[in-house]
Amino acid sequence: MSDREATETSGKEEISVEDEAVDRNIFRDCSKIAFYRRQKQQPSKNSTYRALLDSVTIGRESTSFQIINEATKLPLLAEVYGIEKNILRLKINEETPLKPRYEVSDVLISKLNTVRLISCCKDTGNLILSDEKGYLKCHITENPFKIDLVSEKEVVMSINSLGQLYFEHLQIPPKQRATKEHEKSTSIDTSQEDQEDLGLWEEKFGNFVDVKANGPASIGLDFSLHGFEHVYGIPQHAESHQLKNTRDGDAYRLYNLDVYGYQIHDKMGIYGSVPYLLAHKLGRTIGIFWLNASETLVEINTEPAVEYTLTQMGPAAAKQKVRCQTDVRWISESGIIDVFLLTGPTPSDVFKQYSCLTGTQAMPPLFSLGYHQCRWNYEDEQDVRAVDTGFDEHDIPYDVIWLDIEHTEGKRYFTWDKKRFPTPTRMQELLRSKKRKLVVINDPHIKVDPDYSVYIKAKEQGFFVKTHEGGDFEGVCWPGLSSYLDFTNPKVREWYAGLFAFSAYQGSTDILFIWNDMNEPSVFRGPEQTMQKNAIHHGNWEHRELHNIYGLYQQMATAEGLIQRSKGKERPFVLSRSFFAGSQKYGAVWTGDNTAEWSYLEISIPMLLTLSITGISFCGADVGGFIGNPEAELLVRWYQAGAYQPFFRGHATMNTKRREPWLCEKEHTHLIREAIRERYTLLPYLYSLFYQAHVASDPVMRPLWIEFPSELETFDIEDEYMLGSALLVHPVTEPKATTVDIFLPGSNEVWYDSKTFACWEGGRTMKMPVTLATIPVFQRGGSVVPVKTAVGKSTGWMTDAPYGLRVALSTEGSAVGELYLDDGHSFQYLHQRQFLHRKLSFCSRVLTNSCADERGHFSSKCVVEQILVLGLRKEPSSVTTHSSDGKVKPVAFAYCARMSTLSLEKLSLSIDADWEVHIQ
Ligand code: GLC
Repeated sequence: MSDREATETSGKEEISVEDEAVDRNIFRDCSKIAFYRRQKQQPSKNSTYRALLDSVTIGRESTSFQIINEATKLPLLAEVYGIEKNILRLKINEETPLKPRYEVSDVLISKLNTVRLISCCKDTGNLILSDEKGYLKCHITENPFKIDLVSEKEVVMSINSLGQLYFEHLQIPPKQRATKEHEKSTSIDTSQEDQEDLGLWEEKFGNFVDVKANGPASIGLDFSLHGFEHVYGIPQHAESHQLKNTRDGDAYRLYNLDVYGYQIHDKMGIYGSVPYLLAHKLGRTIGIFWLNASETLVEINTEPAVEYTLTQMGPAAAKQKVRCQTDVRWISESGIIDVFLLTGPTPSDVFKQYSCLTGTQAMPPLFSLGYHQCRWNYEDEQDVRAVDTGFDEHDIPYDVIWLDIEHTEGKRYFTWDKKRFPTPTRMQELLRSKKRKLVVINDPHIKVDPDYSVYIKAKEQGFFVKTHEGGDFEGVCWPGLSSYLDFTNPKVREWYAGLFAFSAYQGSTDILFIWNDMNEPSVFRGPEQTMQKNAIHHGNWEHRELHNIYGLYQQMATAEGLIQRSKGKERPFVLSRSFFAGSQKYGAVWTGDNTAEWSYLEISIPMLLTLSITGISFCGADVGGFIGNPEAELLVRWYQAGAYQPFFRGHATMNTKRREPWLCEKEHTHLIREAIRERYTLLPYLYSLFYQAHVASDPVMRPLWIEFPSELETFDIEDEYMLGSALLVHPVTEPKATTVDIFLPGSNEVWYDSKTFACWEGGRTMKMPVTLATIPVFQRGGSVVPVKTAVGKSTGWMTDAPYGLRVALSTEGSAVGELYLDDGHSFQYLHQRQFLHRKLSFCSRVLTNSCADERGHFSSKCVVEQILVLGLRKEPSSVTTHSSDGKVKPVAFAYCARMSTLSLEKLSLSIDADWEVHIQ
């Protein structure tokens, strides 16, 4: 019996840790996926397409033309759009489908601004489309159909150059077809037996039979990326950051599934999917965004560069270099081909292009960047109080305590277990008095219970997902038999959002925030632990069409509910386990049910890097590992890593030993306290990075290749990363480590150890001695990192705490950084421009605090109290501060010639005013 089943049948007592390993029989590998098999078996003669360039219509928004399958003669309609910021969109659909095919809505933000593409050359067999400036250019070849994307005279990418365009036209079901004999010619003609094997109208998996009302509808297309051998993206997999060749194994699967204790180094689909891939080479970064929410497989085939020796060239053998290439093949079960080609050329251009399509990271409330303490479950109000007090007694800051499913009355969300949580408002008032918050879980399954008001109202209004027979879909999850809200229906989202109103959600207050879990959706005993693909959603769409976007819709509705309950004033915080492209607009995600093992700590870094570059900056992994009991050393290392990751939450499953930070040996508690305190010290920097992610699309956590795009050595590094552009973090992920090999990029760079201030030249790997207390973090020369000089019980206690500036000088003796500041919780930064954005720069021995954005106005009582300058070679004779009204004051300083550091203490320079510090 699996742990999920144990819970559902007999309650938590029966769960045992031995049940950890993933039962692979529950999940399909590629060989068991019929549409994938069909596309792989397709004989190439059936897949030749010809573009009918005579049919080209150049419209205001798009250019369209027909493409014809040479074998079946069935026509498709291709549309090419130019989109601002140098994005090309290609849509391919049936010209006249039997019925409309699903197109993903609610992911692209508002209306995209198209740029007109003009036909600049049309000779026989070719069509060249280009925008006015010639930045966006594509070359369409008629026969066989192929598109080359050209930039600066270089073919960056070719589409369908391998002839893998595949499109299954909707057909009349065989039963109806028998009476319509003449239709037969257009359908795949196969025997009954073959049909079963091909899974055209029916597909078996274990005891499950997927009956497909629309029959085969899959699509596919290939992309050849010229000169690229490094590709990234397409989360979520417990895999390396750089995508691997899939030639000899399974393709990367994008299918949102609840995989408890998922295996690592595996390409199976887990909780969320972002069908977006990035490729990088020296001089160019590009992206492919495949907008499709059905089950999708991605094959990657990289051919490295090879040098051939040409013997026929005479005695002096000539060498010819063949460029490397990566072929990417996308295969989806249904929908249409709708693909966006992001042409870069820099990583930051690609991030902007992607966010111009799907939106940027929502600006999180400041508290949510603090430390979160979670457990399945904090038992009752007494337990919550005790844990809360524990943090104060042990002088450990934290911002949020979380309640898992047991806080409810029998897993009925929006209710409270009356015995365990009789006075939820009082409990929240206690937390409020400590300037802390509460997060409670709210899953998409609703207990089938005629006495549960949420169930009754949803049922009455027809708000549940339906079976293909028309009744409400019922499946088993935590509460037992449940129905699932159909969040794809805007009316359901509106209604659900309303349930978070303070008047509707009894016992909730404005310090309560939400966690959406099990929203893949997870259905115990369902095929692959999820919903039948032929369940029916709003608009009569089958679940298969939109499976991967279901979770996004729940998080969207929840975030909307939290905004509405505050009458549009407050920023929401919603954590979701499932996600899709665009989920960044609604909150944070985490990597689900990981295990308390070193390898899971290690894989958390590439997993979070992949999420980060695909738009989802606010991401984290359960600190300590959700399943099992981490040894003290692992727990300490995990806190140290988590302190430098965007979302920082400790969580553990119910049968694990309690592991609040003070329950281990004193020395370990001390180290955990130090790690959490470092996190709180860094919050001004982190919050400023989130602002940059929000307004300028730059990820918070960055793989090295983003910051050092012209350094080949960085392209496959995933055991260290940059937090913003200033800090390099290399968490220790091995037991009993005494040294760590740290790659410091950039031959012109200098790096400063953030603890010892020792300075290292870049462009090399160095062996750093470590103890259990070490978190290897290096500040990049040329950066200014704003920090807080004092840590409080939570972020709320630190509003007025003074700032410190850590100025790390480049080899030229300069540095620059910024600080973003606002009230930390409302939308006033947006609507009233109540924010402060300061530029902090150091040049010619003068540190300047100036305004970075004149539009913002926000006053802060905070002062800069400390300034630390690293890498100052010459001892100063004096240091003076200069205010904007001309006042000059000498300040005391301490200079260490050995370390080249200058330290200024007890300053009182207003953070919101212009001033300079002169070092003579
Ligand atoms: C799922 C979640 C986990 C949660 C549990 C109970 O396994 O991933 O975080 O604690 O459900 O709600």
